[in-house]
Amino acid sequence: MTAVPETRLIAAGPDAAAEAARRLAGGGLVAFPTETVYGLGADAANGDAIARLYAAKGRPAFNPLIVHLPDVAAARALALFSEAAERLASAFWPGPLTLVLPKRPGCGIAELATAGLDTVALRVPAHPVTRAILLAFGRPIVAPSANLSGHVSPTSAAHVTADLAGRVDLVVDGGATELGLESTIVDCTGRPALLRPGAIAREAIERVLGDALAEAPRAPEGAVPAPGMLASHYAPRAAVRLDAREVEDGEALLAFGANLPQGAESAARVLNLSPRGDLVEAAANLFGHLRALDGAGATRIAVMPIPTEGLGEAINDRLRRAAAPREGRA
Ligand code: TXA
Ligand code: MG
Repeated sequence: MTAVPETRLIAAGPDAAAEAARRLAGGGLVAFPTETVYGLGADAANGDAIARLYAAKGRPAFNPLIVHLPDVAAARALALFSEAAERLASAFWPGPLTLVLPKRPGCGIAELATAGLDTVALRVPAHPVTRAILLAFGRPIVAPSANLSGHVSPTSAAHVTADLAGRVDLVVDGGATELGLESTIVDCTGRPALLRPGAIAREAIERVLGDALAEAPRAPEGAVPAPGMLASHYAPRAAVRLDAREVEDGEALLAFGANLPQGAESAARVLNLSPRGDLVEAAANLFGHLRALDGAGATRIAVMPIPTEGLGEAINDRLRRAAAPREGRA
C-alpha cells in the first residue's frame, strides 16, 4: 500500500466539498458523513484508488462496494431498472436504500468496485454534505462504511479517525449521522429480495412493492452474494451477550427501554439505546454505544432484548453479527 502522509480533518462546508472533489479526482480517499453512517469515498472509475481503499480498510477484495450518485438519472446510466426498482427509487431516493441491479456493460465503473460481478449496488444519499460532494465531483463515488474491515461502522468523524487516521487523505466532519444504521439493500435483479436489513424497515419497502420481499438468495458454498452479511462483521473487541435478562459480574450493559435488568446497578458501565423504547433512536445510538462500551474496559457487553419489528430487524441483525464468534476468541 502506498503510504498516505497525513490525514486532514476539515469541517463540512463549500470549501470542504471542493477539497473533497479535488482529492477524489486525484485518486485520493475521502471520508464523509451520509445520513446512515460515515462512508470512505473513492472515484468509482479509478481502479487504483479503489485498490487503495480496500487496503486502507483491510477489506477482503471480493467484497463489492456501493456506488453513490446524485440522482436517479445518474443511476439509470449505470444499471438496468426493473419496474419494481423504479418504484423503490421514486419512493425512497434520495435516502437510505441501496438497489442491486444488472450493470450496464461499459458503464465505466471499475471492475474492482463490483468485485467482477455483473450487478452493481447503487444508492442516492439524502445527506446535504454527501450531495454537495457528489455534485462537486460530478461523477459516481464508491463508499463503504469508513471503518477498518470488521469493526463497528462509524457514526461520527472521531470514529473515522480512530480507525483510519494515516490511511486516508481527508475526513470531512459533518457531525453525528442521523440514522446510525447502514442502508437497506434490496436485490432487484429478479423478484425483489432483502439482502441487508437497514435504515428503511422491511415493512415500508413491502408497502411500496405491494408484495413481500423474497429472502436473500442463498450463497453457493464459498461464494458471497452480500459479503456484508459475513457472520462476524460488526465487531466490537469485547464479547457480546444477547438477550440478557440480568447483568453478570464484570459486564457492561447495553440497555433498551425503561426497565433495567437485575444487576444493572453494579454493571461496569450502562448505556441505554433508547430509555423511552424508541427503535429509531436506538438505531441512531447503536454503533456509538457499542464503541463507547467497548472502550469502557469491560470484557463483555450484555445486551437487553430488542423488539424485532420495524428497525428492530436491522438492529438485531447487527447485534447478532457483533455477538458471532470470531477468530482469536474462544
Ligand atoms: O449506508 C450505507 O450503505 C453505507 C454508506 C456509506 O452509504 N455504506 C455501506 O457500505 O454500508 P458497505 O461497503 O459497508 O456495505 C456494502 C454492502 C456489502 O454487504 C456488499 O457486499 C453489498 O453492499 N454489495 C455491494 N455490491 C453488491 C452487489 N453487486 N451484489 C450484492 N451485494 C452487494
Ligand atoms: Mg461496512
